[in-house]
Amino acid sequence: MTFADLGTYQATKPEDVKIWFKACEVSRFPKNGGACIKYKDKQIAVFNFTRIGKWYACQNLCPHKMEMVLSRGMIGEEGGNPKIACPLHKNTFSLETGENLNGNLEAIATYPVKIEDNFVYVGFSE
Ligand code: FES
Repeated sequence: MTFADLGTYQATKPEDVKIWFKACEVSRFPKNGGACIKYKDKQIAVFNFTRIGKWYACQNLCPHKMEMVLSRGMIGEEGGNPKIACPLHKNTFSLETGENLNGNLEAIATYPVKIEDNFVYVGFSE
């Protein structure tokens, strides 16, 4: 059983990053899709948005039914904003702000991503 607790996830702004966690090679991530990495007790969904040349990371935990599924969702755009749709009940969240775009669920935590020497790094404040 997965221990799912929203309090585990705190959104991190680029200026607050203290640790760049080396996740894995760029090629391990699907194009225009997501994969899940683990950092400490956190499951983090990482998305390779090839179409717009950007990467995003957010908690893997969907705040709707507390399922670890967001990395398996579909990514897309809404009004120029990148978003992730939960594969279970299609709640959508901004990958920039974490805001729930089609309801009033709690925002998800988002994290900075950088690519260096063909490796994906996710930024955390702790
Ligand atoms: S569990 Fe994600 S939308 Fe329901």
